[in-house]
Amino acid sequence: MTEHTDANQQWGGRFQAGPAAIMQEINASIGFDRALWRQDIRGSLAHAAMLARVGIISPQDETLIRQGLEAIAAEIESGAFPFDAALEDIHMNIEARLSARIGEPGKRLHTARSRNDQVATDFRLFVRDAIDGLDAQMADLMRALATRAAEHAAQPMPGFTHLQTAQPVTFGHHLLAYVEMLARDRGRLRDARARLNECPLGAAALAGTSFPIDRRMTAAELGFDRPMANSLDAVSDRDFALEFLSAAAITAMHLSRLAEEIILWCSAPFRFITLSDAFTTGSSIMPQKRNPDAAELVRAKTGRITGALVALLTVMKGLPLAYAKDMQEDKEPVFDAARALSLALAAMAGMVRDLRPDTTRMRAAAGESFAIATDLADWLVRELHLPFRVAHHVTGRLVAAAEAKGIDLAALPLTEMQAIEPRITAAVFSVLTVEASLASRISEGGTAPAHVAAAASRWIEALG
Ligand code: ARG
Repeated sequence: MTEHTDANQQWGGRFQAGPAAIMQEINASIGFDRALWRQDIRGSLAHAAMLARVGIISPQDETLIRQGLEAIAAEIESGAFPFDAALEDIHMNIEARLSARIGEPGKRLHTARSRNDQVATDFRLFVRDAIDGLDAQMADLMRALATRAAEHAAQPMPGFTHLQTAQPVTFGHHLLAYVEMLARDRGRLRDARARLNECPLGAAALAGTSFPIDRRMTAAELGFDRPMANSLDAVSDRDFALEFLSAAAITAMHLSRLAEEIILWCSAPFRFITLSDAFTTGSSIMPQKRNPDAAELVRAKTGRITGALVALLTVMKGLPLAYAKDMQEDKEPVFDAARALSLALAAMAGMVRDLRPDTTRMRAAAGESFAIATDLADWLVRELHLPFRVAHHVTGRLVAAAEAKGIDLAALPLTEMQAIEPRITAAVFSVLTVEASLASRISEGGTAPAHVAAAASRWIEALG
């Protein structure tokens, strides 16, 4: 058998010289795509098993390939693997190492395969693994929120619109709003996963292959539902990464809203919660400071995750079929977004478990700023049968009267109320408390403590 050696390590016969240094630098992806090594080895094991099954390679070769790949996995795991930028990417690094270890059988592995279907397969596997990991983390955060919500199902706090005190709600109700958001986020990731789960392997470079491969076998082996139907689409599609990033961006946006609220709640004018030393930092100059840095960073991580989505959309826009090297730029944004989201979810779950509400302060704030004015208007409608618009107007005048005296609605003497609306009776005072307001919000999805407690238990049970 003739030994083929070439001046150019990667491209062999056609090339007479190696690449310019800058060519290698712009071209090589091994610096980041080594993160795909597990998926690459998984894909190669499935491909080799299939090649042997259909008789394209011998069972002996398949055994050697399998053992070689397992040894390489151990090398990478232990840090002993000699990564080489001259070999461009993780696929060629592993394949070259396999040939170096086992010789000719290693050189048969790439039969009926191209790096185009290989990288598309590896990357899908990676995104699928990332989705599964993030899904578990999201469930954990939901569990943390639902547990705190159950604990504080009846704890009054001001509900805001326009960040102005609007009506009393319970702290538990507020926390459960985020549980609902995260449930939708998980649904989006689940949907993305279902559409992602088709196997590109066997599309080869772009047109399919002349070898009698069994694409159903490799698809099943790798846990995909089926092979992708069109070979051009199989190597050029990155929708799965974009869907992942859009779902991740929406999740990050949700986390940033909760992070922002934690930051506000920790601030001196609010003083609704405190975070312990475990989730705050000090200041190098102001000894009294306790800063919610983790929450600020969660709020900020949203930028890179949304940025990743925009980056990849921009890479893909206008790309002609099928594969183009542009698509190598798909990985870093996805790796970075997956890592950032994982970190943000973990930090958020930690903070939710750590935070201590100042229940007295929250209760007091819930009754400030005429937060129960709507309850008064509702009473006028219910008891005096005023049309709501009229009741709204009457209540507005009562609020103005109380405000002028610098007192709460409940402190306004009955006679002064009657000067504005003569039919008001002392019974009105029964609705003018935060607790009465909360207890009355019994419409489906409302903040009545009994509803909140039930919703929290439902979530805790559903999350297991
Ligand atoms: N490193 C490449 C990437 O990440 C692998 C595919 C290369 N394919 C090719 N035809 N040059 O996209």
